[in-house]
Amino acid sequence: MHGTVPWFKDFQTRRTRPVITMAAVDRFYLLYREISRSCNFYIEALAIVGAWYTVRKCISLVFDTYSMLRLHLIPKLGGEIDLVKQYGKWAVVTGSTNGIGKAYAEELAKRHVNVILISRNKEKLEAVSRSISETYKVETDFIVADFSKGREPYTAIKKALKDREIGILVNNVGMFYPYPDYFTNVSEDVLWDMININIASANMMTHIVLPGMVEKKKGAIVNVSSASCCQPTPMLTIYGASKNM
Ligand SMILES: NC(=O)c1ccc[n+]([C@@H]2O[C@H](COP(=O)([O-])OP(=O)(O)OC[C@H]3O[C@@H](n4cnc5c(N)ncnc54)[C@H](OP(=O)(O)O)[C@@H]3O)[C@@H](O)[C@H]2O)c1
Repeated sequence: MHGTVPWFKDFQTRRTRPVITMAAVDRFYLLYREISRSCNFYIEALAIVGAWYTVRKCISLVFDTYSMLRLHLIPKLGGEIDLVKQYGKWAVVTGSTNGIGKAYAEELAKRHVNVILISRNKEKLEAVSRSISETYKVETDFIVADFSKGREPYTAIKKALKDREIGILVNNVGMFYPYPDYFTNVSEDVLWDMININIASANMMTHIVLPGMVEKKKGAIVNVSSASCCQPTPMLTIYGASKNM
């Protein structure tokens, strides 16, 4: 009977609404508490990972800063090193008629070191050799050699360097891919060239020059590498591997 009376219906609605609302809030709060409790675990785990990463980064930053200061600042505080006194009269630079090798040859000559250039092209070697000796007033010499020819060039190089006091060797010569490609598509010729020019040349030149340095108890060998050696280089695989000096 009461259910049909409008005021009673209204009364019933008002009485039940707050109860339902309270129940919903309670459940939501419980749910929230449960979620945040399980989240806390993940947040703490992530905080540990973050702290570990930050500590590692800080340590490597300290080491990198120290290396930078040791390499670039501390030597300059004591004035420029006399390369001739420290290492010897002559430097050999492979692949020295262009690019980085030529820049090395010029920088060494600027610091009064006599330079022996090694590349394939005689005309270019003559021109660079003359230009360096005229500009920096040092002695220069050159050897025509093609490092892609396996063992062939080293007998002549060894003979030409025999009576020279080689203090610095810059293993600079290097070849890159004609274009990036899958390893399986790279021709055998390119593979052998890359092995001979990038890997064998540095090993063989060091083998020729190092005994003299050991005997004199002084010398420096610079291997020109590449950032490709330190990270995966898809489509440039053998170049990256060959620069891992
Ligand atoms: N350029 C870059 O961005 C870069 C980056 C990272 C590392 N590198 C490394 O730095 C070094 C020099 O690179 P670069 O770009 O300055 O080289 P580059 O400009 O191409 O010069 C190469 C030099 O090597 C000589 N050469 C080439 N093939 C030779 C061979 N088979 N036998 C003898 N000599 C040869 C060339 O002279 P001839 O043609 O007259 O023989 C030239 O003097 C390489 O080891 C390279 O891997 C370069």
